Amino acid sequence: MIFAHRGSSGTHPENTMLAFEKAKNAGADGLEIDVQLSNDGEIVIAHDEKLDRTTNGKGYIKDCSLQKIKTYNASHKFVEQYGKTEIPTLKELFDWLGGNDLLCNIELKNSVFRYPGMEEKVIRLIKSNMLEERVILSSFNHYSLVQCLQIAPELETAPLYRDGLFRPWVYAAQIGARAIHPNINVASDYVINSAIRAGIKVRPYTINSKASMEHLFQIGCSAIITDFPEKAIRIRQQNS
Ligand code: G3P
Ligand code: MG
Repeated sequence: MIFAHRGSSGTHPENTMLAFEKAKNAGADGLEIDVQLSNDGEIVIAHDEKLDRTTNGKGYIKDCSLQKIKTYNASHKFVEQYGKTEIPTLKELFDWLGGNDLLCNIELKNSVFRYPGMEEKVIRLIKSNMLEERVILSSFNHYSLVQCLQIAPELETAPLYRDGLFRPWVYAAQIGARAIHPNINVASDYVINSAIRAGIKVRPYTINSKASMEHLFQIGCSAIITDFPEKAIRIRQQNS
């Protein structure tokens, strides 16, 4: 499968509805998105804790109300191409997901700030939209993933990691996860094959080169997470 990393972020402003629309139209199987909490407890889709890199705002998302966050432009670096785009909320994305069948990997960005209550809020929204079968919860904070399963054992979780975790498929099973999301630098063929044999899915990130995409499709990796879903789909078609 092909998951569009922050939407089609290689071609469109990351984590915006523009990037999600592009991923859907390109034929991606799913999205990978990042979530943070505003100071009034709204779940907003943004990679960084701060507004500075991707918008014309400044400061921490956790210190802003949703109303304030909505005044900023999330496509300010692409303004000539795309004009103004708001930072979307998870609720807005879920409304849109109701009209298609994309999968959605929600990365809880709760390593820098713990965002108490984030797990409950995200899961409540998943359940009220009946998206349990279409979401995967991931995080670099594995305590948070265990907490998610305590709240909703039916959900799929996937630990993210960047370093050389020893036998990550054993570890995943131990924390109740059904998948692992390794950085490509630590996703060796051995890790991928062993995990898949053990019934644990593997979705490495961020796979942008043709050679890497071809290799992962050839060895039967479960999915890739890429900034360029359109390119990945073309390569998957050529290799099938
Ligand atoms: O979920 C895969 C990937 O997004 C993890 O790293 O920093 O791009 O959110 P990052
Ligand atoms: Mg992410």
